[in-house]
Amino acid sequence: MLGSGKGSNLVAIAEACAAGEIPAVIAVVLSDAADAGILTQARARGLTAEFIPPGRFRTKLDEEAEQAFIGRLVAAEVDLVVLAGFMRILKGEFLRAFSQRVVNIHPSLLPAFPGLEAWQQALEYGVKVTGCTVHLVDQGIDSGPIIAQEAVPVLPGDTPAQLHERIQQAERRLYPQVVGALAEGKIVVNGRRTEWMK
Ligand code: GRF
Repeated sequence: MLGSGKGSNLVAIAEACAAGEIPAVIAVVLSDAADAGILTQARARGLTAEFIPPGRFRTKLDEEAEQAFIGRLVAAEVDLVVLAGFMRILKGEFLRAFSQRVVNIHPSLLPAFPGLEAWQQALEYGVKVTGCTVHLVDQGIDSGPIIAQEAVPVLPGDTPAQLHERIQQAERRLYPQVVGALAEGKIVVNGRRTEWMK
């Protein structure tokens, strides 16, 4: 797993693995931020967790860092790369190394509100329903084939923080289910369309 933030999705997925709900193990947790909560949460659960310096750019990995991330994941023999709040855009080399095997969770019903602070965008736009989306990662920003979505209501008087928390609760339900289905080989991808074989 890769993340830059507090690690609530990591916790949900790690607990589902430990409970036998996901037939997989988290081989390694990597972050571009040395003090990220995701590393602390991973270590507290006995998982291998490492900080890899991202290099000289702000929104992407530099070439050396990209190679370091790829190398570490290859060494850990991962089948799937799960992004949870990883704040760097992954492109070319990385996606070629793990073609169709990188998934992300985004806090809106894509294709609405890609990019940063999607809950804030939804609130400002005035939608009544938003949610979260698990998708395969492609070269664009939050644009890959959609695997699953869960809707979340926007309630009168919601603050950004309240809406974000409600979306994150949905994320913690949805992401472990999708990772489990991927681990079981139940997700079939056909171009932009994906199907969940029950
Ligand atoms: C999630 O809200 C996810 O939608 C976004 O980043 C956040 C990560 O949260 N991409 P956490 O680090 O898993 O708590």
